[in-house]
Amino acid sequence: MPFNLSLAEREAAGLKRSLPAIERVDGRCLYAGGRQYLNFAGNDYLGLSRAPELLAASEQAAREYGVGAVASPLVVGHQAIHRELEQVLCNWLGLEAVMLFSSGFSANQAVIKALPGKEHTLWQDKLNHASLQEAGLLSPARMVRFAHNDMRALERKLTPNAGLIISEGVFSMDGDTAPWPGLVSLARQSGNWLMIDDAHGLGVLGKEGRGTLNEQGLEASEVNIFMGTFGKALGVSGAFVGGSRALIDYLHNLGRSYIYSTHLPPPQTAAVLAAVRLVQQADDKRDHLQTLIHQFRDGVAGLPFMLLPSNTAIQPLIVGEEHKTLELAAALKQQGLWTGAIRPPTVPKGSARLRITLSAAHTKADVQQLINALHAAL
Ligand SMILES: Cc1ncc(COP(=O)(O)O)c(C=O)c1O
Repeated sequence: MPFNLSLAEREAAGLKRSLPAIERVDGRCLYAGGRQYLNFAGNDYLGLSRAPELLAASEQAAREYGVGAVASPLVVGHQAIHRELEQVLCNWLGLEAVMLFSSGFSANQAVIKALPGKEHTLWQDKLNHASLQEAGLLSPARMVRFAHNDMRALERKLTPNAGLIISEGVFSMDGDTAPWPGLVSLARQSGNWLMIDDAHGLGVLGKEGRGTLNEQGLEASEVNIFMGTFGKALGVSGAFVGGSRALIDYLHNLGRSYIYSTHLPPPQTAAVLAAVRLVQQADDKRDHLQTLIHQFRDGVAGLPFMLLPSNTAIQPLIVGEEHKTLELAAALKQQGLWTGAIRPPTVPKGSARLRITLSAAHTKADVQQLINALHAAL
């Protein structure tokens, strides 16, 4: 047998993963094994995944366009509804041009594999998402990683006019934000390009939910590449890449995961359109989410776990050891609370954590229940 499929070592180290048998899930609750849990592990930050407006829009689009896009975008898959969403995203975020992808993973692959050649360098924050790091490793460019959010470390490693700096708006496993004014000025000074992956900031931060750049007083045009996803605060699935018309035309020609993949299904595209409209007007949901974030942080301040500095929906409690993290997650599950036990290699060794995510769909009583259970679990 040419492959060793044993997972015994991973299991012994508390690192084996397996699919949980979820029956269904939304921003607030999930159902598994016939039991209802409060969901503190998802990314439906505004609770839109079951919004009636999204359901109605996707149902109507299914009747009008069918459930599938029928082809990849450059063949015949790119339809009126896709163009409408691209235009709405451009207007919302202040982008010149946009292209749609069926996932954030494939959006990052398209950009990072198509742009740089072997003469270029990619500078990536050490905590960038796997889809960014992996694309960087597969690209012909030299990849340099810099210490998390450390602008001095980045400055020391930069060479002029040599490539692309990549960071996240909100870090997916830590919940903190990158210092975008610093990144913008380093990119400008050094003549390098800059890319933001704002998967977890879009919808949650900034005016009308425009994301991390807006929250930090910057325009989308201050980065060269703006990537965002539809599967988090927008409650659907899929992603976009925005930038100059020239960049998007280039990626239409060379972004392989765009060219060689069936386009976004029209019902999904229509649901995203409806979600963008709701997100723009969702200040009440964003305010409620902020209230829950403060409530949670105050409530767990006395626990013997490190709470990372995050003012976003992602609130990780660092436990450290893998088995202990699994035990804590299991104790919470017994209390009807579902949290993510995140272990290496998703996060650095020794920093296994409960990745607790809050949603505007939660109530203050839900969050209090989680706080009480965390205190009781010790
Ligand atoms: C920062 C970041 N970028 C990209 C992705 C991938 O997006 P998608 O789930 O749409 O493939 C994720 C997903 O978790 C993410 O956290």
